[in-house]
Amino acid sequence: MIKLPGLIDPHVHLREPGATHKEDWDSGTSAALAGGVTMVLAMPNTKPPIFDLPTLDLVLAAAHTKARCDYAQFLGAGPDNALIAASLASRSAGLKMYLDSTFGELRLDDMTLWQEHFKRWPKHLPIVAHSESRSMAAVILMAAIYDRPVHIAHISLKEEILLIKAAKERGIKVTCEVCPHHLFLSRDDIPGISQGHPGRGEVRPRLATREDVAALWENLEVIDCFATDHAPHTLAEKDGDNPPPGFPGLETILPLLLTAVSSGRLTLDDLILRMMTNPRKIFHLPEQPETWVEVDEKSSYEIHAAEMHSRCGWTPFEGWQVKGRVQRVVLRGKEAFLDGKILVNPGFGHNIRV
Ligand code: NCD
Ligand code: ZN
Repeated sequence: MIKLPGLIDPHVHLREPGATHKEDWDSGTSAALAGGVTMVLAMPNTKPPIFDLPTLDLVLAAAHTKARCDYAQFLGAGPDNALIAASLASRSAGLKMYLDSTFGELRLDDMTLWQEHFKRWPKHLPIVAHSESRSMAAVILMAAIYDRPVHIAHISLKEEILLIKAAKERGIKVTCEVCPHHLFLSRDDIPGISQGHPGRGEVRPRLATREDVAALWENLEVIDCFATDHAPHTLAEKDGDNPPPGFPGLETILPLLLTAVSSGRLTLDDLILRMMTNPRKIFHLPEQPETWVEVDEKSSYEIHAAEMHSRCGWTPFEGWQVKGRVQRVVLRGKEAFLDGKILVNPGFGHNIRV
């Protein structure tokens, strides 16, 4: 049995308000606890998106009554909310800027809008950018010009990790996260995931080449955080006409990474640094007292969506053999998860920005 600190996932989509048939604050934070995650930072691309005071109040009211683990909520950068978002900064996890196409309506094309947000958002609080390839290069340049930190979400490409490495070497304040699906899957795995339903392989950023995956592993020291980008959509939606991109991930991140630890690709210290120490630093998150995760590192088992708490009902890792099982989670002194069962009620979770 090994004891880990409570893990932090800085990138989850909980779908409430607006799409609670995919996930809500209850099911999503239950999935977090089952995965050894005791704090989640929730993304703003809900329906409606979270971009002003009424929408922030709306989502925080749902979280307050339903969350089972600790949390904070991101604000979305919209075309005309730079002032209002900045005024709400201290109540939020950070500002999320969508600079490339993905699920939801929050994309900003015009770079003058990026500048508004870079100017207004408090310098000590994080801006997180969904920016791939050349837009990532542009956003890093903007961070350097405005001399403020920027965190790049879910990097997946060799060109991205190499550019971030070079930017860090120049002293630019850039940090980044990588998702398990970009570390353990490449585009060669799409047929196996799809099972004849191409929508199941859709995720943004797309699964990359084996060379990209190798570059992420070779430059592990450049990766600040591991984040799930838990993006639940139902199988019916994934198999339908207009499949939404996204993979669930909260209940598979730790077993996948522990399997990598057991095969010597990663150390436990590497994992704790990227799932607790660094996210806490980057997002200015408080310590969670009396909080830990007990893991049976020897337990081998197959991943099955049917045993999970997420409402989406599937996983791209179905049938994978992993080693390392979450047995027990204690959150702020209370037993929150034991042997597959959630033991804390909806509403137990704290908003860490209050
Ligand atoms: C995310 C979603 O479904 O909200 N989808 C995805 O493919 N990652 C949006 C996002 O994080 O880009
Ligand atoms: Zn996301």
